[in-house]
Formats: sequence, structure tokens, C-alpha cells
Amino acid sequence: MRRVPVLSSRWSSHTDAWATFARTRSDLLFPLPSPVKTTRALVAPAAVSTASAAATEALSLSLREALRLVEALAARLDASLEGTSPSRVALGSALAAAFGFRVASMLLDARRAVRRRGLLFVLFAFVKRMPVVRGAVAREKRKLIDEMDADMTAKSLAAGVPAKLASLPPSGHPVQWVLREAERRGEKDATWRPSNSQMSGAVYVADEKHFEMCSAVYARFAHSNPLHADAFPATARFEQEVVNMAAHMLGGGVGEGRNQHVCGLMTSGGTESILTAIRATRDYMRETRGIRKPEMIVAYSAHAAVYKAAEYFDITLVRVGVDKRTMRMDVDATRRAVTKNTIMIYASAPGYPHGAMDDVEALSKIAVEKKTGLHVDACLGGFVMPFASEAMGEAFAKTHAKPFDFRVPGVTSMSVDTHKYGLAQKGSSVVLYASPALRQYQYTAVMDWSGGLYISPSQAGSRSGGLIAQTWAAMVHVGREGYVERARDVLVGAAALRDAIDAIDGLETMGADVTMVVAWRSTDKEVDVYVLNDVMTKNGWHLSVLHAPPALHYCVTPANVRSVAELAKALAAATAETRALSLCGEKGVAGGKAPIYGLAGGLPDRGLIGDILKDVQDLMLKNA
Ligand SMILES: Cc1ncc(COP(=O)(O)O)c(C=O)c1O
Repeated sequence: MRRVPVLSSRWSSHTDAWATFARTRSDLLFPLPSPVKTTRALVAPAAVSTASAAATEALSLSLREALRLVEALAARLDASLEGTSPSRVALGSALAAAFGFRVASMLLDARRAVRRRGLLFVLFAFVKRMPVVRGAVAREKRKLIDEMDADMTAKSLAAGVPAKLASLPPSGHPVQWVLREAERRGEKDATWRPSNSQMSGAVYVADEKHFEMCSAVYARFAHSNPLHADAFPATARFEQEVVNMAAHMLGGGVGEGRNQHVCGLMTSGGTESILTAIRATRDYMRETRGIRKPEMIVAYSAHAAVYKAAEYFDITLVRVGVDKRTMRMDVDATRRAVTKNTIMIYASAPGYPHGAMDDVEALSKIAVEKKTGLHVDACLGGFVMPFASEAMGEAFAKTHAKPFDFRVPGVTSMSVDTHKYGLAQKGSSVVLYASPALRQYQYTAVMDWSGGLYISPSQAGSRSGGLIAQTWAAMVHVGREGYVERARDVLVGAAALRDAIDAIDGLETMGADVTMVVAWRSTDKEVDVYVLNDVMTKNGWHLSVLHAPPALHYCVTPANVRSVAELAKALAAATAETRALSLCGEKGVAGGKAPIYGLAGGLPDRGLIGDILKDVQDLMLKNA
């Protein structure tokens, strides 16, 4: 019979790869189970046979004892059922077994739901199933959504807003018309102010020439697709070079302390990189450790993408708190949360809300000891934190720079966003693995459909060669020195912003790490941070809103770093204004979002908030 080359090579190399992985990184995690020893190797002389005779004797004694007990129980049961017809006994037993099974599975489901969503969520979900409550909640929700819909529809129909297309134009428009119309529509977008953006995160590129270069390279390769590597070899090469450069920045490649097996692939963004790494680890753990009910330990500060992964891949999220002062993932709680079903610990470097660098070294010790995966989310930090010590000097390195990448032995995967501080245009990220063996678990091979043998390395089938090429262009254009320089700008700006905020009466920064994210909360009950946010929005600033606890953050980027001094001044004035509003008995800024944020953060029924968010998403799609 003819052998299918893709299949045979895949599976044989799979086993070999694991053997290599386990040998080379046996300290890392989940080494292969020891090979089964032959009987010959196990056979020892007389001592072994004496011990085994004693063990057999002990076993048969226990069995005899158990049988006696069963017989006694059976006799009692027979006596009590005497006179009952056999068909009744059989039916009764079947019903009792079915009932017991149902109750057991309900209890197990409830336990799972509580672990996954929390007790309050489950309780509210239960109460909301009662018809009276369900009707009342549905009516209130409808009222709220209808009001929002009316408001959004009015805005989308306002004068000057182009009429929305509902079907293809009967005939095509000329090129000039299309370009003009696109330009006109773009005027409504947030303005790209590369040199003094007032927006937290979101825009990273500060250099118009760089931006234009990326656009030109994108246009040159927009038609290409790495799915057809033979037709587009340049794209395949660009991708591998992007992955190699990212891996080298994060402890991969050749050199002392580096893991030369680090490899990866490009994805469309941070979320896809995270999803991909989590799915690969889940499948790996299922195959090598037989984990069928996977759990993943994440901090409350882990990016929302982990919730998506849990939903998509049926993984139970086990959430642990963060240290109150440093805002880093609680290491002791993580250790306590590990079970035989844990597939992964998820750390951030740094995390989105407070910019905290989780203690990857300490978490790695747990991962290695308990044989779990360890993902480090460096979506934000991947192009800044590796250069922090060099950018900021020795003093900073001593106090702030702790290893967080593949040089730490337990790290099994990482995500790093080229479309953030990597300065590529949107739609580009890299997922990295400690070994090609783990990467194989993100591939899909299809052998049995009518389209021929199919192998795809990523969630997406076709991918944009243009996005890959422009990412390569951004990285080779900026180069190592360029990233060090930008890391310095961002971190110096963030440190200055931290100091300035700590000097404002009524505010204090959160966390102990100097990274690109600066988060702060109020220390004065007259200063509601959500009202402060409304005052800042009114003045043209876009901050990020956090909850649990209520706080705000600003993510410093090359595009907004020049506005940091101005931001500090604006914050001081807005804090005073917020306090004055409160002292005058005002609830906040007219038309502001503070009441919504306050309510959404404080309402204990998180399920209801989730339902409302989904309806609001519908409205945004409808009224776009
Ligand atoms: C730490 C972290 N991880 C993941 C993501 C998700 O990235 P994306 O929006 O590209 O999917 C973000 C986005 O801000 C982030 O800050």
C-alpha cells in the first residue's frame, strides 16, 4: 500500500521530537513518561520473589475480607426485599441508578460552574431562571437597550454621516470616487497625531516615514499568502525571520542560557497568539498527560483573551488574586491552585491593567515542579522590557529587571505583539514555543476530505503576506538600537508620569514596576476616578478605565510620550475640578460615563452585565 508522506513523516517525527524535547529540556516541564522497562531489567534475584509472594498473600486476604462484607450486605438486602417481585427490584434499581447518576452529574456541573464563574454568578443565574425574576430583568434590560439604540441611531443618521450601504451599488464607482469617499469617511476617525497623541495605547507608530514604508511594503505583498509557501517563498522567509528576531529578543537562539529550540509563528494579533498557545498546550497535555478536564491558572489581571480561550476551548479558568502593593500575580495562591488537571499557569510581562510584571521566575519553579505549562503574555512588553536594562541603566536593572522570557527554564510559550511596540501596522503578532514539539499542537492536518492532503500551521487558513512583509520591514528598519531608544523614551516618560501622579493630592499610582502602563486610583473619597475620567475626556484625553478596584491607566507609547508632561498637568487640574464638583454636590459631568462605569463595576450580578454588553455590541454593529 502507498504511504501518505505527510502523515507518516508527521507522526514519526512527532515521537522523535518529543524524545529530543524531553532530553534537552527535561528540567523544563512535563518530560515524557519513562520508557517502560523490560521484564528482564526488572527481574531481581530471591529478594524480589519473596516480596512478591508476601504482597500476593496480603492482596488475597483483603479480597476475601471484601467478599465476606459483600455477602453479608447481600443477605440483608435479600431479607428486606423478600416477597418483592424480581421485575420491581430490577426496575427500582434502574431508576435509583439513573436518579443517582443525574444528581451526581448535576452536582459535578454545579461545582464546575462555581469554579469557572464564581458562586455569585451561579447563584444569580439560578435566581434569574425563576419566571417572575426573568420577566422583570428582561423588561428593565429592554428599556435600557432601547434608550441606547435610539441615541445611537440618531447619531448614525445625523447630517454629514454617509448613508449606509445595505447592498452592492448597481454599478462600480470609479477609482477616484472610491479614494475620495474613503478619505471623507476617514475624517470621522480619531485623528492620528503621531507626535503628540493624547490616547492611551492604541497608536504606537510615531514616525510618518516609517508608517509609509510599512504601507508600501504591505502593498507590494498584499496578494501573497504563506499558505502557498511554494508560490510565495519571500513571504515564508519574511515570517521565519520575524519569528527568529522575536525569539532572539526573548531568550531564544544560540548562546549561553538561551533556548535554541524556541520557534513560533505569526498570528493576527495578541488575542490570536494567546488563543493559539493555550490550545496547543491543552492538546499537548491531553495527549501526554491524559488531562481531559483542563484548568488554567490566571491572575485577575490577566488579559481578557484568556476568557475567550476558556470559552472556545472548554478550559476551566482558575483565578488567583494579585499582591495589593505590587499588583503581581499571587505566587502562593498559584501554587495552591495547581491540581492534576492544570495545563498552564498564565503570567503577564507586563499585564494590561496595572503594568505589573508577574514574577515569572517564581511561577516557573511551580510550573517545573508540577509539570504544567507556563505562558508569558509579553504582548505589551515584548519589544520594550527586553531592552529596559540597557535603555535605563544599571540602577534600573538592579531594581526592576527580572528575567521573564525563555531564559527562565519553565517558560513554555510566549506571545509578543509586533503591531504594538514592534511598530508594525495592525494585524500582526508572534506566538513562540519552547520547542517545535509543542508548536506541532497548533497545526491542523486534514487527510480525509476531498480537497487532498491539507496541512495548516495556524487558526487562519489563508493569511495576509502583506501584513507579514510589513512586520518584517518595521523590525529591520527600527533595528535593535531603535527599539532600545524607543524603550528608553517610553520608560522615562512612564517613570515621570508616575512621579507626577504621586505628587497630585488625591491620587496614587498602583503597582511597583516601571513599565509602559501607569495606573492610578483615588485616595480621596471626593475624587471619583470615573468622574475624573469624564473631565479628562471632555478635555480631549483618552484614558483607559479599570475596575476591581476602580482605577484609570495610561499606556505610554512612542506616539503619546511627548504629551506626558501636558497629561500630568491636565490630570492635576482635572482632579481639583472633580473634587470641586463633588463638594458642590454635583454627581459628575453632564453626559459622562461615570454612572455607567460605577454601576457596571459595582453590580454583583456579573452575568447580567455580560448580557447587557452583548446587547450593546449588537447595537454597535447595527449602528456602525
Ligand atoms: C497584555 C496584553 N495581552 C494581550 C492583549 C491583546 O492584544 P490584541 O488586542 O492585539 O488582541 C493586549 C492588548 O492590549 C495586552 O495588553
